[in-house]
Amino acid sequence: MLPFKDEIEQLRQNGITQVAFKRMHDPAVIPLWFGEGDVVTPDFICNASKKALDEGQTFYTHTRGRPELREALKVYLDRLYCLDIHPDRITVPGAAMLGVTIAAQMVLGRGDHGLIVSPVWPNIASVFRVTGAQVGYVRQQLTDNGWQLEVDEIISAVKPNTRAIFVNSPCNPTGWMMGAADQTRLLEYCREHGILIIADEVYHRTLFDAVAAPSFLNVAQDDDPLIVVNGFSKAWAMTGWRLGWVVTPKKHVVQWTALSECFNTGATVFAQMGAVAALEQGEPFVRQLQAQYRAGRDIVDQMLGGHPGVEYHSPAGAFYAFPSVHGLRDSLAFVEAILRETDVGLAPGYTFGPDNDSHFRLCFAQSHDRLKLGLERVVEFIEKNPGRF
Ligand SMILES: Cc1ncc(COP(=O)(O)O)c(C=O)c1O
Repeated sequence: MLPFKDEIEQLRQNGITQVAFKRMHDPAVIPLWFGEGDVVTPDFICNASKKALDEGQTFYTHTRGRPELREALKVYLDRLYCLDIHPDRITVPGAAMLGVTIAAQMVLGRGDHGLIVSPVWPNIASVFRVTGAQVGYVRQQLTDNGWQLEVDEIISAVKPNTRAIFVNSPCNPTGWMMGAADQTRLLEYCREHGILIIADEVYHRTLFDAVAAPSFLNVAQDDDPLIVVNGFSKAWAMTGWRLGWVVTPKKHVVQWTALSECFNTGATVFAQMGAVAALEQGEPFVRQLQAQYRAGRDIVDQMLGGHPGVEYHSPAGAFYAFPSVHGLRDSLAFVEAILRETDVGLAPGYTFGPDNDSHFRLCFAQSHDRLKLGLERVVEFIEKNPGRF
């Protein structure tokens, strides 16, 4: 056996893929486990990439992304948030996931502490652990008003060796969102204490009562200790394209580029041309998806809201329900049994950080007939199996 580094030795596959890989692509399964719907990327995006291929765009690209795409991102961010971000501060890694990895590698190492707002998408904790840092969580709580977390609680969880705080808003899996006042306060604290905020805003367009979620970029100065990670997967139905973007402070651009070369010497070049089309022509499609997800959320509200077997609160953003099942102790056994006995794919709560083993996550981005059928089976299963897991 190879002598792996301790951090790698202890690494575990996340609970979502652990369940899903057993029956991924099985047509009998209603897949509510991953964070994606069943809408194919629209033609105007695919055609822009096909055109790039036809033109022979198959060569190495700039590590930080095609100039056209970084310029289009600048214009998009200006339009959405009334910002003036210089394209030099923007980099396009192969997926938001890679952006989080590079950000964590920038500041975390052995002896450091990385703080994560949880419940959280499991890959984030793995990314932090791989750096060798100690990982801490500060957990949102489910109250009568939904998932809540005070900034003071985040600040109280900071240790003398905390070097990075990860905030995902809107949050996968709870839908919790951090408002502008709280973002300002946390940023002020981090500026004063030299702590990097890694703000994951991949669900910035996946919300139900506004055009876009509050962005840390709106409350930040150019050189604040802030890295904003975003991507094309969710808002434009481009999960398979593996394309993200990152906004770094002006003074970190050179080091970001150097570190990017260790992970990703540029994102797929013809995919980037599809992304330009998404940004320039995609607004009606983004709005259409928002309406579809809102209707999906309403279906979940009808079927789980007020159900005596679960505690569920309607999310304000992202496209997940994260209910807790009364009496549930083993979320992995629960979702494995649901998959085996009802052919519905869910994600187990335990994988989203500590104290989530009574929860499961379902993604409501699927088309509504499948979503309804999946939910009917889940509800029936819960009703027939009280206390079994
Ligand atoms: C919170 C969060 N960050 C990042 C990602 C990854 O996005 P990408 O598909 O761009 O890697 C996801 C995907 O589900 C996510 O939920």
